[in-house]
Amino acid sequence: MILRLSIRREDPESGICNYQDFEIPYEDGMTFLTALQRIKEYQDETLTFRHFCRAGICGTCTIYINGFPKLACKEQVLPYVLLEKRVVIEPLKGFKVIKDLAVDNDKIIKKLKEIHGWVRTGSDDCRIPSDLSRKLESAADCILCLACQSYCPQVLEENYAGPLIFAKLYRFLEDPRDKDKEERFVQAVEKGNLYHCLSCNKCNHVCPKEVEPATLIRRLMVYSR
Ligand code: SF4
Ligand code: SF4
Ligand code: FES
Repeated sequence: MILRLSIRREDPESGICNYQDFEIPYEDGMTFLTALQRIKEYQDETLTFRHFCRAGICGTCTIYINGFPKLACKEQVLPYVLLEKRVVIEPLKGFKVIKDLAVDNDKIIKKLKEIHGWVRTGSDDCRIPSDLSRKLESAADCILCLACQSYCPQVLEENYAGPLIFAKLYRFLEDPRDKDKEERFVQAVEKGNLYHCLSCNKCNHVCPKEVEPATLIRRLMVYSR
C-alpha cells in the first residue's frame, strides 16, 4: 500500500509557498510522524517539522491532516491509506510559519507568561484534597499542543484569549494553593473576553487529551457570575 501526501511547503525567507506531493510505502503501525521522517530520510532532507517525544506527551508535533489538527506521532496512517486518496498535510493555522510544518509559538508562550501559567502559592500547605485533584486532573493534562487554539474560530478576534489559555486559567482557579484568583478572573473575563466564546465545542473535539476546554470555559462562566 502507498500513502500519498500533499504537503504544504513554505519558506518565508525565499517566498516559496506550494503543495508538494510525496508517495511513501506503508509500514505496519505507521504514524504520520513516521511518514514525515521517511520523507526526510529518503526523499527530501529539507522537509521541516517538529517532534520530540514520539509518544503524545510533548505536544510539539501537531499538524493539520485533511483540515483537522492532530498529533502526528499518534495519528495512524492506515485509515487514510485505505481510502486511497491523497492526504493534505498543513501547518497549524493561525500561527506564523517558520518553515514548512514548523510554526512560531512565541505568541502563546508570551500569553502563558502574562497569565502566570503556573501555581503561585499563597501558603506552605501544598496538599490538594483527592476529590479536587480528580477534578483538576483533566485540565492539568493539557500538553500545550495548540490544536484547540488553532481550531477555535474566535481566536481570530485579537483580544480573545482562546481555549488553551482559558483551560489553564480554570486549572489555577480551581487549585486551592493558588493565590492569584482575583487577577485570574480579570484575565479571563475582562482581558480574555471569556464571554465571546461561541460554545461551539470545536476545541473539545480536537483536543487529543480530553481536556475539554469548552466545558471548562462554561464552568469559568458559572464561577464568574
Ligand atoms: S467553544 Fe469557545 S473556545 Fe472552544 S472553539 Fe468554540 S469559540 Fe473557541
Ligand atoms: S487543551 Fe487540549 S488541544 Fe488545547 S493545547 Fe491543551 S492538550 Fe492541546
Ligand atoms: S512528538 Fe511529542 S506529542 Fe508528538
